[in-house]
Amino acid sequence: MIERTLVLLKPDAVQRALVGDIISRFEKTGLKIIGMKMVNADKETAGKHYADDAEWLKSVGAKTKKSYEAKGIKVAEDELTIGKRIRQQLMDFISMSPSVALCIEGHGAIDKVRVIVGSTAPSTAAPGTIRGDYSMDSYALADSSKRPIQNLIHASDSRENGVREIKIWFKENELYPYTRVDEGLLYRKGK
Ligand SMILES: Nc1ncnc2c1ncn2[C@@H]1O[C@H](COP(=O)(O)OP(=O)(O)OP(=O)(O)O)[C@@H](O)[C@H]1O
Ligand SMILES: [Mg+2]
Repeated sequence: MIERTLVLLKPDAVQRALVGDIISRFEKTGLKIIGMKMVNADKETAGKHYADDAEWLKSVGAKTKKSYEAKGIKVAEDELTIGKRIRQQLMDFISMSPSVALCIEGHGAIDKVRVIVGSTAPSTAAPGTIRGDYSMDSYALADSSKRPIQNLIHASDSRENGVREIKIWFKENELYPYTRVDEGLLYRKGK
């Protein structure tokens, strides 16, 4: 099924001049860029993007706890408290300097982009993924520095969030449907 996903090259990707390398990884798979712009997010955009949603905040806290517990470290704080703290750090980070926002379209785009991006903590992200290849940041380093994990990319995690997030970053007339020359092969129907 053709899907659209919101990808942000966060301030660390822009400051480290990795924009071109990262974008080419998406392009080469066959995924189609239908929107792209540089944005210095204001507080309102940051707050909408990192929504004050209890479910998401708890999931961020739960992943954090799991990563510490895997190393035998007990975390006393509850998931929601951890999630709220990280949300504030993320909002400050995304508005610190420009990001590049992309709207990417293709069959199964949501999952495919997240496979290319890799898992949340670059320290354990697989080689070959963007986070695994271009960063070594970790939960421990981020937490001890009181900042979010700098993992270069945000990518929508569901179709529903994709629709929500694209509306935050792009106006309808900033998205450009067109045909890629390789679509005839990729979406070719057999006899
Ligand atoms: N324990 C933590 N300490 C610092 N930053 C964190 C922590 N957990 C998550 N983050 C930051 O919060 C972001 C959102 O967390 P989430 O669990 O949604 O990760 P993700 O889905 O892999 O990444 P993203 O939502 O950015 O695509 C992460 O990308 C990371 O930058
Ligand atoms: Mg996420």
